[in-house]
Amino acid sequence: MDKARITVFDTTLRDGEQSPGCSMNVKEKVRLAVQLDRLGVDVIEAGFPIASDGDFAAVQAVAAAVPRPIIAALARASRLDIERAAQALTAAVRSRIHVFLATSDIHLLHKLRISRQQCLEQARDSVRLARTYSNDVEFSPEDATRTDPEFLFQVLEAVIEAGATTLNIPDTVGYTVPAEFGGLIESIRRRVRGAENVTISAHCHNDLGLAVANSLAAVAAGARQVECTINGIGERAGNASLEEIVMTMRVRPDHYAYETGVTSEQLYPTSQMLEEITGVAVQPNKAIIGRNAFAHEAGIHQDGMLKNPLTYEIMTPKSVGVPDSKLVLGKHSGRHALSLRCEQLGYKFDRRELDEIYRKFVILADEIKHVHDHHLFELIRETYGDSHRIPPGRVEAEQATAAAAGASDSRRMFPPGVPAEFSAANLGSGTAGEHHGEQEDYLWGV
Ligand code: KIV
Ligand code: ZN
Repeated sequence: MDKARITVFDTTLRDGEQSPGCSMNVKEKVRLAVQLDRLGVDVIEAGFPIASDGDFAAVQAVAAAVPRPIIAALARASRLDIERAAQALTAAVRSRIHVFLATSDIHLLHKLRISRQQCLEQARDSVRLARTYSNDVEFSPEDATRTDPEFLFQVLEAVIEAGATTLNIPDTVGYTVPAEFGGLIESIRRRVRGAENVTISAHCHNDLGLAVANSLAAVAAGARQVECTINGIGERAGNASLEEIVMTMRVRPDHYAYETGVTSEQLYPTSQMLEEITGVAVQPNKAIIGRNAFAHEAGIHQDGMLKNPLTYEIMTPKSVGVPDSKLVLGKHSGRHALSLRCEQLGYKFDRRELDEIYRKFVILADEIKHVHDHHLFELIRETYGDSHRIPPGRVEAEQATAAAAGASDSRRMFPPGVPAEFSAANLGSGTAGEHHGEQEDYLWGV
């Protein structure tokens, strides 16, 4: 299957850092830029040089430190901004000036206080000026999704004539919906003269929680660049999340036959680094990289996971750089997971004995929510002392044997059609007790 290549434009260091609590100093931006390079993004938008001397220095430092990706700098459609952006980018091997100007009547009337004609001329002149500094110029009509489409087409045509090489279509206020946004991208491709010679890009905000869906609709309609951020950080509700876009394409190539240069195993390390730098925690249930994205507490789910991770995971944790799936022991957990954890801690019980441990475990879990290993040790010792301890050395030996068996066990593989990199599921040791009748075992295990 021939896959179209999508350019991943990462704006964590620009739009991302505009979110409250996420601003980064020069050293932090360089550290993250080096990691973004490792992740494999195509473009790093390093900052908005006119905004502050610090941001100017950050763009300069990123441009000098990271030679592979294109380094972009943001500029309003004004001479000073564009010159400052160009200056900050001088050390870049490949640079891009990203010029933006609002085009919606709401912004023209209330914010910029200029006419449509003035807007069109300012956009064209600014792109022309930017082209004198770089062959790579991106233009963004801010608030494009609330702009009169006919006027939007006129502006886009004018900036193409002036030399823009990428047309980025921002859903600045996160207002659009997938069908509408896909339709807009399609009509830009159809109606704007010269659109076939430039890259069309999507830049979506998440005010309605649709940023990723809108970005994917844009790609399906012919956009070939997506602008996104790690952990989905960005103005207000954030930008489209890079990890969600990339993994949707990886996990569902049947619907999104596109490829990116992203090394998916670097997603979690990058997310963790950003969390550490900004001190802004990722929500636990965040897709792909949240603490709970590969955690299972419900007994039915844990039982399924122990039999085959395919039952409740659509990608392996390793494929996104998460060390392993987690079975969280709480009041929803079942005997199957409890038995496995006991074995991992060095204790083996028959069914009747485990029933007793389980009864006490559920009472405890009701009280304290999460049962940690030290609780379990206490509970086991209180109930049976040390009499069920597996002789030293045997736990490791059993786990090693089970892991080796798991690697060649076809039940652990993802079905045909799922890319090979997602087929290495390997959860736990898989030695949770002997198996009895299937239905009986299922009911007992959960
Ligand atoms: O959301 C937006 O409109 C922007 C532009 C500067 C591209 O971030
Ligand atoms: Zn934005």
